[in-house]
Amino acid sequence: METILTGMRPTGALHIGHYVGVIKNMRELQKTHRCFYFLADWHAYNALFDKTEIIRASRYEYVKGWIAAGVDPKLSPIYRQSDIPEVLMLNQIFQCLTPPGWADRSPSWKDFMSNPNADKRLDNLGFFNYPILQAADIAIVGAHKVPVGEDQVSHIEISREIVRKFNRVYKTNLPEPEALLSVVPKLAGTDGGRKMSSSIGNVISLNESEKSLQKKVNKIKTDDQRGDVSNPGNPENCTVFEYHKVFSSEDECVNISTACRAAGISCGECKQKLGETMKKELIPIADRFNQMTDSDCDDILNDGAKKARETTRAVWETIASATKF
Ligand code: TRP
Ligand code: SF4
Repeated sequence: METILTGMRPTGALHIGHYVGVIKNMRELQKTHRCFYFLADWHAYNALFDKTEIIRASRYEYVKGWIAAGVDPKLSPIYRQSDIPEVLMLNQIFQCLTPPGWADRSPSWKDFMSNPNADKRLDNLGFFNYPILQAADIAIVGAHKVPVGEDQVSHIEISREIVRKFNRVYKTNLPEPEALLSVVPKLAGTDGGRKMSSSIGNVISLNESEKSLQKKVNKIKTDDQRGDVSNPGNPENCTVFEYHKVFSSEDECVNISTACRAAGISCGECKQKLGETMKKELIPIADRFNQMTDSDCDDILNDGAKKARETTRAVWETIASATKF
């Protein structure tokens, strides 16, 4: 059976963009694959070394969100990257196999270097090293596939190159990882902006109450050409409709689109419908989220680290004997 690895950087609050983009996929992949799910807290550290309280708080937030959304820790170990010492040991070896140019050409570093508004705290070798550490995350559990969006594919290519070089140098057979391109919807922010992000403040959290959920839905941007109810609208220019496409059934979407184009539904009604649909899916998740305690999360993470280390220790044995170090 193929092994899959997914990691998320615990850098802030979880929102429904994470849920539709990553977490639902994690829940589904568990049914057919051997999965490892981890909190990439060393990766978070690159940007938050002077704000580690955010990493600590998000650790609990993420575990609660994953479990509440149906990720089952009995099927897949859920662990903190920093609980697995073999990750950093392999990172050190991988650094020695990686010409700096590979990291220099990685999209994350290039974006950082070319973006004048980038977070200045990222100007450090930890962040420069991001793709190498990521390769170690992947190889230390022997993952074959890494689910990613389009923008992350070249990072996985770098991981693949590094593992390939390791195999060539040390005559080993570590799996060369591949990107598992997931066709996931990118959920727009409630302001209609391209990306939902806590730092912009256009998010819907994974544990909204019914009331606040509907309130936020009511604020989602509509087709601004529509104006009055009596004008026909264009759902393709409407963020509310984008959300319908993610949360509502196909039939419902067709009905709404037709009614909108014929001025047969008001934006208020349309948002009410969206709110109802989203509540059905998200309120049970919010309830489970709110029932979990930080100490439940610690138990899950401790248990997950124990299980993950059975694998990472075994892989490390192979590495240690191959490198004769
Ligand atoms: N790149 C991921 C993010 O930005 C986190 C991550 C780090 C990761 N290492 C990984 C994902 C290994 C998958 C596999 O959140
Ligand atoms: Fe958007 Fe719905 Fe209003 Fe049409 S009716 S513009 S789809 S909110």
